[in-house]
Amino acid sequence: MHTVTAIYPGSFDPVTNGHLDLVARGAKLFDRLIVSVLRNSAKNPLFSVAERVEMLREGTAAFPNVEVATFEGLLVDFARAQGAHAVLRGIRAISDYEYELQMAHMNRRLNPEVETIFLMPDAQYSYVSSRLVKEVFRVGGSVEGLVPQLVIDRLGRRAARSETPMPP
Ligand code: PNS
Repeated sequence: MHTVTAIYPGSFDPVTNGHLDLVARGAKLFDRLIVSVLRNSAKNPLFSVAERVEMLREGTAAFPNVEVATFEGLLVDFARAQGAHAVLRGIRAISDYEYELQMAHMNRRLNPEVETIFLMPDAQYSYVSSRLVKEVFRVGGSVEGLVPQLVIDRLGRRAARSETPMPP
């Protein structure tokens, strides 16, 4: 049987309801969707890769054809190793387009057999990003409805821990 596998790559630091909206859409289109967390990112993450994977696994548990994995190195190499010919990315607004276009062309150059598929998350998530969620939470704002409750709980635990004074 011919199955279509897609990789949904990202930092997911942390997963947002916009990401999960895209997972739901992708899960309907592809036989197998592998949400894949980049391990060797240059970014300074708030959550470890293991924590991000755990949150993604909990957040995507309702989708039987969705898996969560990690990768390092080139995305197209990981896609090839997984037998995937599609990369799924979300475009929230025109501001995302330029960066996504560059990545899609670079990935095509690296492996012309991998196609990038863009989907739009629901309009209610068009301004939601992991970066803004972290910023709003850090200064005491509500992120309810923007991330799953399990992420809010983790953000709370992380904040409580970082407020504990370091031992002398
Ligand atoms: O959520 P992000 O941070 O926008 O995701 C970016 C990601 C992980 C998709 C991108 O950085 C990536 O694919 N990195 C792996 C390295 C790679 O293959 N680079 C070439 C494509 S530009």
